[in-house]
Amino acid sequence: MADETTSIVIFGASGDLTERKLIPALYNLSRKERLPEACNIIGVARTQYSHEEFRTHVRDGVQQFSPNTYTDDQWAAFADNLWYVVADATTRDGMQTVLQFMQEREQGRSNRLYYLSVAPTLYEPIIQNIGAVGMESEHNGWCRVVIEKPFGTDLKSARELNNIVHSVFDESQVYRIDHYLGKETAQNILFFRFANTVFEPIWNRNYVDNVQITVAETVDVEHRAKYYDDAGVLRDMFQNHLLQLLALVAMEPPVSFDATALRNEKVKVFSAIRHVNPVDTVRGQYEGYCETEGVKPDSQTATYAALKLNVDNWRWQGVPFYLRSGKALAAKTSEISIRFQCPPMLMFNLPENRQFSPNVLSICIQPDEGIHLKFEAKVPDSPSETRTVDMEFHYRTSFEGQEIPEAYERLLLDALNGDASLFTRSDEVETMWGIIDPILEGWQTPDAPPLVTYPRESWGPAEADALLFRGGHAWQLGCGDHD
Ligand code: BG6
Repeated sequence: MADETTSIVIFGASGDLTERKLIPALYNLSRKERLPEACNIIGVARTQYSHEEFRTHVRDGVQQFSPNTYTDDQWAAFADNLWYVVADATTRDGMQTVLQFMQEREQGRSNRLYYLSVAPTLYEPIIQNIGAVGMESEHNGWCRVVIEKPFGTDLKSARELNNIVHSVFDESQVYRIDHYLGKETAQNILFFRFANTVFEPIWNRNYVDNVQITVAETVDVEHRAKYYDDAGVLRDMFQNHLLQLLALVAMEPPVSFDATALRNEKVKVFSAIRHVNPVDTVRGQYEGYCETEGVKPDSQTATYAALKLNVDNWRWQGVPFYLRSGKALAAKTSEISIRFQCPPMLMFNLPENRQFSPNVLSICIQPDEGIHLKFEAKVPDSPSETRTVDMEFHYRTSFEGQEIPEAYERLLLDALNGDASLFTRSDEVETMWGIIDPILEGWQTPDAPPLVTYPRESWGPAEADALLFRGGHAWQLGCGDHD
């Protein structure tokens, strides 16, 4: 008899995320023998599946979304501990059914991880019913809840949701997901900065001219129009992923590498972001967006935004942080460019019309994961001609043969291990909404920048170039070949 059992309960198990991300991540953890020894994975949803039908459904998902790792034997070992419960978890009776099923499989000390992979409107009733049947209790093992984004739609709703969550769970039990933090390359930002000595001394206003964060997608809203038309790009991408990337670049070194110290530093950075002036924002919508099924015909929803942010602290005073993200753009790339200042004086006689390009450090989050540093080099056999050259680190060559795990694999493992470093704390999420809310409100005022359309497969509206041009800057892409 096992003296400890762990249950992973996925609410919303018939949905897309479970099939595409959660089960493939859990399968890969099982394959790598990283799941707890006695571990039951229990899918919960209203859709009628038998255990076997559910297993077949999610096996297809693994074969499709994690094809390189699938083997029949490893799947069979994993699927032995995979279950499905038909229940409406928004009702007390439904939750009671889940509890009973879980208890029948528990032996000894019983740990529980609940994953809310459901529509945000269902967070409240599910959390309340977890509380109503006493499933949040830690008297016989740990108990944690993982909550998917979006966490609220503005500061007010995020606070309300935090209150609901805290009426059942202690904050130490809560794991709010931002899958960008689970990306290997995003995690590497802190290692790059703080496991090396050469970069940190120049990582400040004395040497950095501007910072740019681009998260460009080629996909449009696809089948998510209903959600997206209400959310828009600021809520969908900026409030979470882009701000988190900014925090990793801008934060001070934490005193230790633990969840409290890390998240304290992030909150400090978010608190230092100056109120954003509407003139420092651009909002765009790709051509044809309003013809998408599920989108209001006169929708004013932005599918693209560019922002200029200022971080008002000693390290970053005067250094603009330019952020942009959009759908239906020319390429898929997520990257951060740190553009350094020009040398204080130039002693070389450059050919006419030729200027030095400043050094640019590009952190390539995806798809070609790595880091590039652009610098000037003398062209051989020329008296003083220079050319910009690139020093490159690619994961695919430096870590050849080593797969980069999916973000969800790392995040699920951390949640099982009780490490909340890569999850968003309640005050953090509220501070982030405090940055986004005024921008959204500004977009409703007469000072709002106009909503401009941009062609599909472009780099977004020209207004975004003008935003940087006004500050004497230009967008820079340093990862891959995007021209
Ligand atoms: C999600 C957004 O959080 O992130 C999506 O809701 C977006 O709209 C996705 O497509 C992008 O994630 P990734 O990992 O593909 O860059």
